[in-house]
Amino acid sequence: MKQNKFKFQTPLGLKDILPQDQGYFEKVYSTADKYAKFYSFERIDTPILENYELFLRGTGETTEIVEKQMYLLKTRGGEYLAMRPEFTPSLARSYFEQGMISWPHPVKIYTRGPVFRHEKPQAGRYRQFHQINLEVFGSNNAITDVEIIWIFYSFLGALGIKNLVVMVNSIGNSQCRPYFKKSLTRCLKSNESHLCVDCKRRLKINPLRVLDCKEEKCQRIINQAPQILDYLCEECRRHFKNVLEYLDALEIPYNLNPYLVRGLDYYTKTVFEIAVQPEDDQAKKNALVGGGRYDDLLKLIGKRNISACGAAAGVERIINTMKEKDLKPDSWPPPKIFIAQLGDRAKIEALKLIESFKKNNIQAGFSLTKDSLANQLKIANKLRADWSIIIGEEEVVKKSVIIRNMEDGNQETVLQNTIIEKVKSLLKKEKAKKRK
Ligand code: HAM
Repeated sequence: MKQNKFKFQTPLGLKDILPQDQGYFEKVYSTADKYAKFYSFERIDTPILENYELFLRGTGETTEIVEKQMYLLKTRGGEYLAMRPEFTPSLARSYFEQGMISWPHPVKIYTRGPVFRHEKPQAGRYRQFHQINLEVFGSNNAITDVEIIWIFYSFLGALGIKNLVVMVNSIGNSQCRPYFKKSLTRCLKSNESHLCVDCKRRLKINPLRVLDCKEEKCQRIINQAPQILDYLCEECRRHFKNVLEYLDALEIPYNLNPYLVRGLDYYTKTVFEIAVQPEDDQAKKNALVGGGRYDDLLKLIGKRNISACGAAAGVERIINTMKEKDLKPDSWPPPKIFIAQLGDRAKIEALKLIESFKKNNIQAGFSLTKDSLANQLKIANKLRADWSIIIGEEEVVKKSVIIRNMEDGNQETVLQNTIIEKVKSLLKKEKAKKRK
């Protein structure tokens, strides 16, 4: 027969999450769930697929995400759908569609799950990744911006991630930003020939995005460009001043970064990112969290003036940081008990016994596919079980079990219906011995 040369592999930039990483995901998600509950954010799950126009409008037509990175598909019914590249437009859609507008305000929403961006795969950048996302709808108060920064900052701290720095900026609103844009465009145009190819394109579509460029030649021009903070209107200036005062009061370390603009179109006023402070100043800061205020997005999606603010954390980037810093998730404790069996009827009794231990919340190891007792006891030793419970044909008939101390090899026979109590008292004695 001809060999099948085709080898199935995950598509580029997508990966399997293997058992050794599941503990990290569980730790990050369970910590996020606790934080969300504590700060009164309600969980919502939205579909992975949405009408693609939602992101075209919401995320913004001129963003890299919509221009280059969105996974688009045409259904058999001829509909155009997108795999969500972020959560914010989906949650804004849900806010209107599900009538959250009539809920007590502000509405605080929490969601988490996979998002998809067709980016060039590289360290910390994947095509399917997971986000933890918080949004607040219906508050224009600067304390909301800081509440979100504070929650993400202390959430990362609870995972053991220290040396964090918050980068913060204000990009103004539809009143003041056009003046800044005009002045920035003038400056960039006069230096256009020195800009990189990407920035030449950005200059035409959205000059603000040039400020985000990391190319050295563009950096030289950016350093001489006008700064948005000098152009803020009174309302934006006051809002930003309040944000910085609250950050100071909470002693959250921040860097005011006048070039932070973020790659999404909807932001107004405050924008921020949280990253681990790199040891070497030149090292790249990979943001763990990104977010900001977006007071105009809900008008675009639901035709109502509703202020909003939110942020998202990248789960894989958090896990990579935990690994770099040797922060391990709590591992499941190994079983103290191992159940071994000999013979077909004994296998059935063993299964019943496993279920009784489970009901009593006592973790038990077993290997029902192995027939030899020696092989099963080898596994018990590998698991470092303190006791093995052995059931053979004779024990099935007598409704008994043998309990064997794995350290000294001593064993005794007890009735099956007393084994749970027996094990409980052994575990209790062991605990008391450890305490001494
Ligand atoms: P974002 O900055 O695009 O913002 O993404 C938030 C976080 O997701 C980043 O800080 C990063 O940790 C992670 N992330 C982004 N792209 C990738 C990637 N390709 N691979 C791995 N991780 C990645 C948003 O998505 C906004 N929706 C946040 C927001 C919510 N703003 C207001 N509300």
